[in-house]
Amino acid sequence: MTSVFRPAIERMAGYTPGEQPQEGGWIKLNTNENPYPPSPRVVDAVRRAAEGRLNVYPDPRATAFRKVAAELLHVDPDWILPANGSDENLTMITRSFCDSGQIVGYPYPSYVLYEELAKIQGCAVVRLPLNAAFQWDAQRAADLRSQTRVFFAPNPNSPTGNCWTPAQLRELLPDEGVLVLDEAYGDFRREPHRGELLRRTEFDGRLIVTRSLSKSYSLAGIRFGFAVADPILIEGMQKVKDSYNCDTVSILAATAALEDQEWMLRNRDRILATRDRLSAELPQFGFYVSPSEANFVWTVHTSGRHREIYEQLKARRILVRYMRFEHARADGRVIDGLRITVGTDNEIDLLLRNMSETVDAVSASTVSTAQDCGADQ
Ligand SMILES: Cc1ncc(COP(=O)(O)O)c(C=O)c1O
Repeated sequence: MTSVFRPAIERMAGYTPGEQPQEGGWIKLNTNENPYPPSPRVVDAVRRAAEGRLNVYPDPRATAFRKVAAELLHVDPDWILPANGSDENLTMITRSFCDSGQIVGYPYPSYVLYEELAKIQGCAVVRLPLNAAFQWDAQRAADLRSQTRVFFAPNPNSPTGNCWTPAQLRELLPDEGVLVLDEAYGDFRREPHRGELLRRTEFDGRLIVTRSLSKSYSLAGIRFGFAVADPILIEGMQKVKDSYNCDTVSILAATAALEDQEWMLRNRDRILATRDRLSAELPQFGFYVSPSEANFVWTVHTSGRHREIYEQLKARRILVRYMRFEHARADGRVIDGLRITVGTDNEIDLLLRNMSETVDAVSASTVSTAQDCGADQ
C-alpha cells in the first residue's frame, strides 16, 4: 500500500516510552515514578468521583484544580492550563507556537520527547549540546535565539539531574517565541520555586512553566499536569487542547493531591534522603554519580559497559534506564550511561546488594557485540 501518512509522520520513528512490565515482581527504577502511594485524600477523591456523575462531561477548564494550583504558585487561576499529563502541555505548546519548518530547540542530552513533538508538527530541531559539566556554551545559546520559536529546558534536567540558574535560562529565550521551563521534577529541587520566575520582567511574559503530578505527587497512573504562563499565552493555548482533556476522576484526584502538600513534601524528603545515600554508595562499585536535584541519578561506570550492566540487572528483575545519546557533544562523541530512579530504601538496598555481583559478571564477560537499543527518552 502506498503510504497515506503525512511525510513528517512517515519519516519519524516515534517516541518509545520506558518499559512498563505488566506483571509484578520487578524493582522498577526506570521511569522516575514515585515509589510511595498518593495521599489518602487522593484515594478518597477517586472513590468519590467513581460514585459521582460519570455520565456527564467533566469541567472543560478544570476550574477547581486551577484555583488550588493558582494559590500554590501565587498567580491568578487564568495563569493555569491543566492537561492530561504535562506531556500534553508540551504537545499544546508545539501546536500553538511552532509552525511547520520553524525551529524547536532543546539542550542535549535532555528529554527526547521534545524532538518527537517537533517532528509531528513538521518543525526542525536544534540541539544545544551540553558539555561534560552539563552546561551549554552561552555564545551558542545566544546564536540560537534568533532561530527558535520554542525552546524547551527541563529544570532539573533529565537524565543529568542538574538545574540551571535564571540567568542561564534567560540566555535561551527566543527573540520571537516562548521559553518552556519543564519542571516535571521541580519539587525535588533544592530550592523549589513558587512561580517567581514567571513574574520576572526579563522573560518578557514569554515564559511557560510546565508541572507534572506524575512524580512528586505519585500520580503517574492518573495522568495530570499543568502549564503556568501569562493569561495571553494560556488563552491562546486553549484553542488547541481537546475539549475535555482532563477527566472527572483526574481533576478531583489532582486537586486533592495539591491540597495535601504535607504528604507530598514528606515523601519528597524521604526520596531526597534515599537519593543521597544511593549517590554516596554507588561509587564503591566503580560508578561516577552526577550531583542530582531530581528523584533520579545519572551515573556512568568506569568500564563503560552500561548496556550490559542494565541487562544484568534486568535479568535480576531490577529495571533501570539505559540511555544512549549520539553526537551529544560538539566533538560528536556518544554519551551513554544509566539513569536510576530513586525507589524506597528497601528497593535501593536490593539494587546495591545486587550491584557488586552485576559489575563482576559484566567485567568477567567478554565485550558484548549486542546492538544498541536505539534512541532513548
Ligand atoms: C523532563 C520530563 N518532562 C515531562 C515528563 C512528562 O510527565 P507527565 O507524566 O506529566 O506527562 C517527563 C516524564 O518522564 C519528563 O521526564
